[in-house]
Amino acid sequence: MGNETLDNLLNESRTFPPSDEFAAQANAKAELYAKADADREQFWAEQAERLTWDTKWSQVLDWTNAPFAKWFVGGKLNVAYNCVDRHVEAGHGEQVAIHWVGEPGDTRDITYAQLQDEVSKAANALTSLGVKAGDVIAIQLQMIPEAIFAMLACARIGALHSVVFGGFSPTALRARVDDAAAKIVITSDGQYRRGKAAPMKANVDEALEGAETVEKVIVVRRTGSDLEGEVPWTDERDLWWHELVDGQSAEHTPEAFDAEHPLFILYTSGTTGRPKGILHTSGGYLTQTAYTHHNVFDHKPGEDVYWCTADIGWITGHSYIVYGPLANRVTQVVYEGTPNTPHEGRHWEIIQKYKVSIYYTAPTLIRTFMKWGAQIPAEYDLSSLRVLGSVGEPINPEAWIWYRETIGANSAPIVDTWWQTETGAIMISPLPGVTSTKPGSAQRALPGISAKVVDDQAQEVGKGGGGYLVLDQPWPSMLRGIWGDNERYRETYWSRFAEQGFYFAGDGAKYDADGDIWLLGRVDDVMNVSGHRISTTEVESALVSHPTVAEAAVVGASDPTTGQGIVAFVILRGNAVDGGDEAIQALRNHVAKEIGPIAKPRQIMVVPELPKTRSGKIMRRLLRDVAENRQVGDVTTLADSSVMDLISTGLQSGRSED
Ligand code: WTA
Repeated sequence: MGNETLDNLLNESRTFPPSDEFAAQANAKAELYAKADADREQFWAEQAERLTWDTKWSQVLDWTNAPFAKWFVGGKLNVAYNCVDRHVEAGHGEQVAIHWVGEPGDTRDITYAQLQDEVSKAANALTSLGVKAGDVIAIQLQMIPEAIFAMLACARIGALHSVVFGGFSPTALRARVDDAAAKIVITSDGQYRRGKAAPMKANVDEALEGAETVEKVIVVRRTGSDLEGEVPWTDERDLWWHELVDGQSAEHTPEAFDAEHPLFILYTSGTTGRPKGILHTSGGYLTQTAYTHHNVFDHKPGEDVYWCTADIGWITGHSYIVYGPLANRVTQVVYEGTPNTPHEGRHWEIIQKYKVSIYYTAPTLIRTFMKWGAQIPAEYDLSSLRVLGSVGEPINPEAWIWYRETIGANSAPIVDTWWQTETGAIMISPLPGVTSTKPGSAQRALPGISAKVVDDQAQEVGKGGGGYLVLDQPWPSMLRGIWGDNERYRETYWSRFAEQGFYFAGDGAKYDADGDIWLLGRVDDVMNVSGHRISTTEVESALVSHPTVAEAAVVGASDPTTGQGIVAFVILRGNAVDGGDEAIQALRNHVAKEIGPIAKPRQIMVVPELPKTRSGKIMRRLLRDVAENRQVGDVTTLADSSVMDLISTGLQSGRSED
């Protein structure tokens, strides 16, 4: 059942091959797939050669203690040396590593030579506080250069960082500090957000009240006099970054650590309330982040200007701002603020100024840009862009096409990259010089990676079939566990298909007629309507393809007749103010037309905003509460908790059944 429906879904026939010029100069050629298939371990050994090793490994992979992998067994390297020093030694000290852009308009260009000094000083500073390899340092910082210096300084001395997103509440920070027994916390006095200075240190102090493991708090001065008098201080514990770091020696000899030495912990939410501390290690992680950054983005060191718009508080910031790009000697833009401060063209203005050639962002932002209108990017020169990336959620074909036409001048390849905090690096994605891209599909596992779509019995489904996405071979940047909880690690990822030894990603997926993979959202977001499996993503995509709709979120609400009924929440585009009955009916019919009558929403509510986490993911759980007329649950992880009130006000509108 359900598969017939799936067959009719996501019927996307448009494909966009790379131009001959692009293909000819691309880093990755089609042979890469065959090469990886011929000998996976040898292939990964070759990719690891991109890095500089202090001691070479004796074995590529040890999987005898599955699901606890060891990659590049016996190898030793220093991750920070690979991201910084070796580029200086190779004569690229004057190359700009980071074009930093502050939200208020201040800027800072940091060369590799300067980066080496800053990281070395910060490493010396941490050592002076007694930090040793294996200690955990929590970092809660906005997008300022010190965030990157701090992460690399930890890596340099073998300490683990645990970066906590700047927008997280004191309670969330405290839970993470306690779980990892962090010894030091690095933060700032305040951050600029939407044109205003907002406190950081005050929140950190609230979080750390009574925290037993924290010995020192290092505070970067960012907002300075703009928050005068609002920065609480504990003399024996707190240190200004500039007072501690600036006077340190810029000489620091990096020590080589084992390939499996822990690099960082990054917390991600699970199905329970308790966040999971995802553990990543050194050699395999850096190998795969560098390999993917080189091949998926076609990055050319010293030529391209790269910009990943993620926050370093998320895995995308770790892997595609810090480690992969810097290992590849990137020149990149790092932007502190929000995309509409002081105006909605801020990103395009930055791209024009720095001639950004590779731009990597999230579908939710692309849809926001669509809502603001194509006339805004049209005012800027975006002709430097040659590769566009997308990550974080399925990108609906309409947003994909808009991205290609409006931002990519109909020529830049779009790489839709599927991966997770747990996978550490990109797993499924087109190769920009090889793949004929297809709007809405991440398409195929990268060379060296193996993914399958399987049914409940772990059988691979055929073309046109849907099921669960699994990874059936270990990969270098895979998580090595959940911090302090091996059992939860096995249970969450390896128990569902224990017999086959598949990693269960928690995502639904299907193969289209060509065998390309489409991600359908988390399996808990797949609805079952009259025995037909329908993805919330597909209905959302259909809604967003209607000219009046800017954004849509769909949930399956329990229904006495059909099992689940489809309830949609939509934001209309600025000029389509009419959310009356006729408009709603037109939308329902539109979905029926796009997907089939089975997917026609039972109810559509026009809302002014959608509830999103701070990382931009829609919180369907809350919408399900509304759709099922329940008291709305815990809203503490919402970026803006007043959104649910706004939505509840519109609760009665748009109900129509036939
Ligand atoms: C979703 C972000 C479809 C997916 C790197 C995954 C995607 C979760 C894509 C991981 C994509 C990420 N297409 N879905 N290109 N990329 N996802 O840990 O559901 O924040 O399981 O990592 O995001 O989110 P996370």
